[in-house]
Amino acid sequence: MAVAYPRKFQNAIGARDILIQFVRDREIHLITLNRYRYSEQRSCKDLTEVIEQLDGQPSELIRDLSHHISDEARHAMWLTDLLVELGANVGTPPGSSYISEFERLYDREQRDPSKDLEEFLISTLAAINVTEKRGCEYFSAHIHALKQAPQTEENTKICETIEKILPEEAGHVRWGNRWLAQLANKSPEHRQKVEQAKRKYAAIEQAAFEAGLDITLGAELRRVANLLEVANTMPIWQRPQYLMERLPQTLLAPDLQMTRINTIQRAWKRDPQALMENFVPIFLNGIKRVKNKHS
Ligand SMILES: [Fe+2]
Ligand SMILES: [Fe+2]
Repeated sequence: MAVAYPRKFQNAIGARDILIQFVRDREIHLITLNRYRYSEQRSCKDLTEVIEQLDGQPSELIRDLSHHISDEARHAMWLTDLLVELGANVGTPPGSSYISEFERLYDREQRDPSKDLEEFLISTLAAINVTEKRGCEYFSAHIHALKQAPQTEENTKICETIEKILPEEAGHVRWGNRWLAQLANKSPEHRQKVEQAKRKYAAIEQAAFEAGLDITLGAELRRVANLLEVANTMPIWQRPQYLMERLPQTLLAPDLQMTRINTIQRAWKRDPQALMENFVPIFLNGIKRVKNKHS
């Protein structure tokens, strides 16, 4: 059976490389932890919505989901306690949000349990599964980066918190794998549907993940390329509507413009020289990548 794993950012930078950079800069480190907190808290709301949509059936899944929500709520609580103790911000994180981009790319009309319960289960579980995998990848990279960073009291506390969360996230991945395998084993058609859903949600997750990181010039074009990749995992007749509904916002990308402005402002206030040395080459690389693609 196809195993869909999260890819590296533009196939080049891995979570480990990213986290080593983030951990070095206290401000970015705390923003990253607050993004985790926000995602954990938000997943409680999203999983609750799934329980309400399922409206009681199948009861084993309702039970599992309610346990899952309890885990995610505990993760959010641990991270909130940690951030408050460190005196950090626990507001809505600024800029592009992985979750909002994931939601935008996710086609809700295809996911109505009253129309087709099994289809709904397959796509919901595939979507949960791929985001849980990304969570594991990030948390284990974060622990790896913290082991290499100076062993300050603050870093130790952060590491202890993430080390408590990671095994539970790995449990969520295994849980999703079990449910998807069970559904796939029902028939060859089921297996095909599960495989297709895995490919589709892996493409959506990858696009959302890259949108949250890619603020270099040319990002809009790469986001369109990612949107096309998502569409290519769907049956042909579903593609035009999916694309037409999402293309304008992908091209205009207002959240992307805000993230760019925020990032530049923050970097400028802190250290104008470092901005010229570090950020300007990143933006220029973005232009080069687009030029290379089109030449
Ligand atoms: Fe979690
Ligand atoms: Fe989780």
